[in-house]
Amino acid sequence: MLSGPHDPRSHTRYRGNQYFQRSHKKGRHSEIHYFPKMLQTAFISHGFGIETTRIMRRPSYWTGVAIAILSSFYIVAAVNVAPRHCEGNIRHVHLAVGTEPETSMTVSFATFASKFKAPLAGVLIGTSPHDLKELFLEQSPPTSYNLKQNKDTWTNFDGKYYSPHYHHVELFELQPNTMYFYKPILKASRGEFEEYNLHTLKQPTKEEMQKELKELDSEEDADDEEYVQEGRRLLDPYDGSWRDCPPVNKIRSFRTAPPAGSFPVSLAIIGDIGQFPHSEETLARLLRNRNEMDAVILAGDIAYTNYDHRRWDTFFDFLDDYPLFEHIPLQICPGNHDIDMNDVANDIFQAYEHRFRMPRVKPPQLELYDGPHGAMNMDAPPYPLPYEWGNAYYSFTYGAAKMIMISAYSSMEPDSIQYNWIVDELEAVDRSITPWVIAVIHTPIYNTFSLHQKDLQIVAARQHLEPLLVEHRVNMVFSGHIHAYMRTTTMSNETFHPHGPMHVTVGAGGRNCEAPFKNDEPEPWLEVRDATIYGYGMLRIHNATVAEWDWIHTGHNEERGYNELKGSDVRLEAGPGFDQVFLENQYFAKDEL
Ligand SMILES: [Fe+2]
Repeated sequence: MLSGPHDPRSHTRYRGNQYFQRSHKKGRHSEIHYFPKMLQTAFISHGFGIETTRIMRRPSYWTGVAIAILSSFYIVAAVNVAPRHCEGNIRHVHLAVGTEPETSMTVSFATFASKFKAPLAGVLIGTSPHDLKELFLEQSPPTSYNLKQNKDTWTNFDGKYYSPHYHHVELFELQPNTMYFYKPILKASRGEFEEYNLHTLKQPTKEEMQKELKELDSEEDADDEEYVQEGRRLLDPYDGSWRDCPPVNKIRSFRTAPPAGSFPVSLAIIGDIGQFPHSEETLARLLRNRNEMDAVILAGDIAYTNYDHRRWDTFFDFLDDYPLFEHIPLQICPGNHDIDMNDVANDIFQAYEHRFRMPRVKPPQLELYDGPHGAMNMDAPPYPLPYEWGNAYYSFTYGAAKMIMISAYSSMEPDSIQYNWIVDELEAVDRSITPWVIAVIHTPIYNTFSLHQKDLQIVAARQHLEPLLVEHRVNMVFSGHIHAYMRTTTMSNETFHPHGPMHVTVGAGGRNCEAPFKNDEPEPWLEVRDATIYGYGMLRIHNATVAEWDWIHTGHNEERGYNELKGSDVRLEAGPGFDQVFLENQYFAKDEL
């Protein structure tokens, strides 16, 4: 049965038509960037067709240069935040391991079909693409959220932003290490959906567009000021609005995890991915190498929405166009840019909690931020935030690896809920089954870069968590946050230690790779550092005693092919394009130093 008027699902209402109109017509107000006047004139004179829109959004480099030379002055045009419109389609399909990764998998996807209610969804599954004979219906109602946005132009219904309905279907009692084929479905007859015909929706006229651009001129100063306040500017969000929707009847596949304790295990580790040109490079390379990895770990900072939740939709459009996570499970931990608290509402982690479903220990305890109103400074958020369980922190076993995903934004203080949970998890590890224990936390405990040195989360993790990680001989700690790459030796308390973890920062996944070094001379515990190269890492666990770490280079920072030193004109050599090391399991290291 579909939800009725009193069903908990029915409070979530989604206005497909308004969504379309507003995001296309008014989304242009949401951000600004400098654009040649001549190109705008051409844009207006040629109307509002898809092709001109595409040129507007993505001019080629040489076109831009030529027009810049011809045009002596610039005016401001707005960045288009344009989620793709595939009303009625299942989309944004992504996987996460289930509670028991060797026998379960969670399939998540979005539907935009109805204004007033979400359809009941399920997943058909089988071991052959021609025989999807088992049906799993979603175990809990679809989830969604709505909130006030900073600007009227960022909303899609009734002065608020309404997210799609997210369905999370856990498939269970599967066979370990087995390839399955699956297809998400909606359990409803076609007549029960509101149908949308994009051709009948009203498009803006040339006059309306001219009026809008005029208004933009007058908003220029105010928007500039806003950007100064918001700090570093983001590049445009991903625009896949001109691409086709994901095929309706696409049959996808995944492989369940091998039995606990198995080798080998291959995990890709990424951080601070975003939805920018270098993010596309990273996803493209991961997609090309997808047969080499069992799961992908994303160490926080996912979509970079800059307070605009429509950018979560464009982020998932991006994933639909690089369809990796419909085949490989994606495991996340929270980053500061996933908090998403804007200046008109105190909601936090709404998208992070609703759009993903990790193998959670308990349902989330997520409250409104009880501090002052106003846009939260994402570069220096308060600590701790009122967020426990859910997707905040959790663990899972993948073959011989025990993964402990930590929230730097929940309390890490001794006797806090998360701290006690981490202690329990570490004490419960059986190294005869999972000889490798790996922690993931967005903020790095060690940091050779000048940025984020005094973050409250880093100070707390260093003070409270590092002793636990050393005591329990955790092998590696993966982090993001700094948009650069860094790897330490095995260490404890700022010194080499044979039992201590190796710390790796992988924040160069796509967001601007730039981070000056704090000191000219690398710290004694440092092995590799670089802020010029984008990439992701591969952790390959070969057996109980040997693992391999490999930093895969995916792109360069074109603007600055060298490393900076803080407060200096010194230009240091760019780092290596790769960093490949073998790690002997610290758990088996001799006790004496
Ligand atoms: Fe971050």
